[in-house]
Amino acid sequence: MKLFRRKPIATILKEGGDGEHSGLNKVLTVKDLTFFGIAAILGAGSFSSLGSAVFNGGPGVVFLFVIVAVACAFTAFCYSEFASRIPVAGSAYTYAYSSFGELFAWIIGWALIMEYSIGNIYVAYSWSDYFTSLLEQCHIHVPAYLSTSYMEASKAFEGNIQGEALKAWTTATEIGGLKLILDLPALLINFIITFLVYRGVKESKNFSNLMVWIKMLVVGLIIIVGTILIFKNDLFGNWTPNNSVGIPSFMPNGFSGVMMAVSGVFFAYIGFDAVSVMAEESKNPQRDLPRGMIYSLVICTVVYILLTLVLTGAANYKTFEGIGDPLAFIFEKQNFDLPWMHFLVAICAVVAMTSVMLVFQMGQPRIWMTMSRDGLMPKRFSTIHPKYKTPSFATLITGLVVGIPIVFTDKTFVLDFTSIGTLFAFVLVCGGVLLIPRREKEAGKFHLPYVNAKFIFSGLVALSIFLVATFVPGFFTETFDFSSDKLAKNLPMVIFFILIVVMMFLSFTKNLSLIPLLGLISCCYLLTGMAVSNWMWFGVWLVIGLIIYFAFSYNNSKLNTEVEG
Ligand code: ALA
Repeated sequence: MKLFRRKPIATILKEGGDGEHSGLNKVLTVKDLTFFGIAAILGAGSFSSLGSAVFNGGPGVVFLFVIVAVACAFTAFCYSEFASRIPVAGSAYTYAYSSFGELFAWIIGWALIMEYSIGNIYVAYSWSDYFTSLLEQCHIHVPAYLSTSYMEASKAFEGNIQGEALKAWTTATEIGGLKLILDLPALLINFIITFLVYRGVKESKNFSNLMVWIKMLVVGLIIIVGTILIFKNDLFGNWTPNNSVGIPSFMPNGFSGVMMAVSGVFFAYIGFDAVSVMAEESKNPQRDLPRGMIYSLVICTVVYILLTLVLTGAANYKTFEGIGDPLAFIFEKQNFDLPWMHFLVAICAVVAMTSVMLVFQMGQPRIWMTMSRDGLMPKRFSTIHPKYKTPSFATLITGLVVGIPIVFTDKTFVLDFTSIGTLFAFVLVCGGVLLIPRREKEAGKFHLPYVNAKFIFSGLVALSIFLVATFVPGFFTETFDFSSDKLAKNLPMVIFFILIVVMMFLSFTKNLSLIPLLGLISCCYLLTGMAVSNWMWFGVWLVIGLIIYFAFSYNNSKLNTEVEG
């Protein structure tokens, strides 16, 4: 069927795989790619949303970082397998084109806009928060109505939520009945990043590497200074705070408290996959892309675990309620009282988030460029700038796609959108690896180890059921409660169980490979944590994408011309 027409890997490689045809500079080494990974991963997730994660789950949130890291590691292996077979720009989009066919490739390309562009909106907002607080420490005051988004201020007004957002609403000037409320620093950083990316990968690479060094050094310092002070002040009791019945516990709100932090923690890991869009600019993509992805993921996992332990050791987890700058918070007066660290952390946060934005803003145009080459996006998206050798038009459009919603949306809205879109893309990548045929090992290239899933997967499922039934009594009766008030809440988990049964069956009949199967299942599990409203927004987004596909891309696809011709 034409909708599922696939693009042969040989064609993909011929069009862009050797890099010589793409017109992009091939300059990136494994070190650069690892740095790109870290640049994309360590950002708003750890500097902003870690506070509420710790508040919900207590020190036990460390477990969630490990669980999400494992899910991401399986996915990274799948990305790596694809990246070593198809070393061209385009990330999951390109991989889906060769395995699932055009319609799914389009859908995934469309979903990736959420990860790359919409995710950057969240980071831009967080950047603005830290930047204005940094200026404040230098005695430069930015009025609240020029550093808050309109939506956030209006929500604060409607809900009478005290704080900066409400202040923005009450102090803003009115023009023609409309309040002038705008997150100016967020717009500014978007403008600067777009300019840098437009100018070229080499300059951006050097800048990005420098920023990664800075943030790794400061994060290292936070861990060292924090640990010393925890030991010096004998604060070990913070790691086992009292739970609701007064018993000291590493997970004071139980595992359900830990799981409440799942979207924030997942957001902290988004970015390792961005490495794969740099395929055409890397010197040896088949060897280096997988390494870059996995190295950066491992480094960030270690950093997150240590940071969480330092945070929860420094202060009681309950004090993190509503704290948007947790890493700076622990050095405030009521905690360690170290003003110089407080200042350093604020600088580091600004740097860290700048580097996240840079990587994502480089990734988005490259995905569009690949889609444009395939005829699914207008031709101009693959125009390469003659001097700077960057996809210039696509870069400018990315700047607009990030910049315009900064005026109309707010943090919460874009965060949910990003997480669901990214998980969706991860599921398709893992599913794609399950579909492609196995291949012979080639020296110097990454090769996903094949382990037959049939007995191991079923064994793991049985073990998980046993553990859940033992340690979370009532879980199954609660989940399979189909009474009308519980159905909507339980539906994602029920669908997840059906998926497990189907995959168990397929693992026996098709000898599925274990790693991509576990990647698929673990990402689907994380998806069950998404609220129904998020799914609805995501559905609307997909419908818009499908309309564009059938109105434009389907007819203009190069594959269409080739099939027809
Ligand atoms: N993981 C990235 C961040 O935390 C998106 O900013």
